[in-house]
Amino acid sequence: MGFREDFAWGAATASYQIEGGVQEDGKGRDIWSVFCEQENRVFDGHNGDIACDHYHKMKEDVKLMADMGLKAYRFSVSWTRILPEGTGSINQKGIDFYNALIDELRLHQIEPYMTLFHWDYPYELQRKGGWLNDSSVDWFEEYARVIAENFSDRVKYFFTINEPQIFIGLGFVNGIFAPGYRCGKREFFQMAHNVLKAHGAAVKVLRQCGKQKVFIGFAPCGSMNFPATERPEDVEAARKSIFAVPDKLEDLAASVAWWSDPVFLGAYPKEGLEKFAAYLPEITKEDMDLIHQPLDFIGQNVYNGKEVEKGGDQGFHLTSMKTGYPKTGFNWPITPSCLYWGPKFLYERYQKPIYITENGLSCPDVVSQDGQVHDPNRIDFLSRYLKELKRAAENGVDIAGYFQWSLMDNFEWASGYHERFGLIYIDYETQKRIPKDSFQWYSRIIKENGINL
Ligand code: BGC
Repeated sequence: MGFREDFAWGAATASYQIEGGVQEDGKGRDIWSVFCEQENRVFDGHNGDIACDHYHKMKEDVKLMADMGLKAYRFSVSWTRILPEGTGSINQKGIDFYNALIDELRLHQIEPYMTLFHWDYPYELQRKGGWLNDSSVDWFEEYARVIAENFSDRVKYFFTINEPQIFIGLGFVNGIFAPGYRCGKREFFQMAHNVLKAHGAAVKVLRQCGKQKVFIGFAPCGSMNFPATERPEDVEAARKSIFAVPDKLEDLAASVAWWSDPVFLGAYPKEGLEKFAAYLPEITKEDMDLIHQPLDFIGQNVYNGKEVEKGGDQGFHLTSMKTGYPKTGFNWPITPSCLYWGPKFLYERYQKPIYITENGLSCPDVVSQDGQVHDPNRIDFLSRYLKELKRAAENGVDIAGYFQWSLMDNFEWASGYHERFGLIYIDYETQKRIPKDSFQWYSRIIKENGINL
């Protein structure tokens, strides 16, 4: 017992975070590169202009993936590299880059998992209102068609959208991510509805224009809460808390159910429809049918959760954090059991195989005197989390794969290069790659299919 034989052992990245080459070979402007030009937006004025220079070092990076023994690689396409204005004319050089990446992966028997959208939205489309504009659904559909036509002969696995919770919640509700806006409830619900419709339109077009049978999911996130004890009332409390519909806009934007219920169940949570009735756009049956396209799996990014017990008005109560609780470099709590309970609750509710599309931590990694990067905290974290994921698999949850975040250190959005999440250390001065100890450790776990976790 343990992980299935064909388990997709992977690592993940995203275009703007690693590629660099933001103005090269005809790439159009995206909202993150514009955001980085503004003062006091990103830590120390960092930007993704060069990032890990993956645009030029792609072959070297794929070779490292192969050395590690990765079976799967999740990456995102930069929309404006292939459609510089977001719609309209295609930039062949951008297509060529992703074709070369896909071919290189396949040459090394690494399965490509492509994410269509990981936040680097076309600036030209943002100028037209972005997700607030109802045409954003058609724009995304056009982009998805270009993807299907050019890549689906060799790419079988797709994720439409990464973490709507974060790019809408942080980009448009509290404004700390690009494009840095602060919207009200009405605009939030309009954008959220358009994002979900765009997801549905992309799924349809990927299936219609796919050159082979394709497998598609969605990659949201959310706090994967877990019970304080295994008593049934605490388990029920944790389950309720994961799918609750909070009152505050910021919390609602980060919720699981507002985004995943429409996609997997075909309906917004009833409680939310009642609570926010005054601010909702028109929601038709056709919209819900479009959003509720059949999917092949759930993709879920999981970093942590909160401990929950029975109590409170809504039937659950978040317990207070223990003094001196373990935390990552980013000060995020370390809560391994979220990778058991989260997948279990998601599987019960949505009944689809699950890929953990991201999981990992940032550490203050340094190059030691021996020239190596020793990261015992990362190994300890990953081993604790993966044990819990394995427990879920052994308890009947259909876990199809796991993507560690991240293959390499990279541009951590508003935190710039301050946080290091990689299995591979990047020296940004020289662009030298140094596999960390966790790289070797993960390589062994993959080889053994997690048996000795
Ligand atoms: C995102 C990644 C990000 C990671 C760590 C996720 O929210 O999808 O782009 O780097 O978490 O913050």
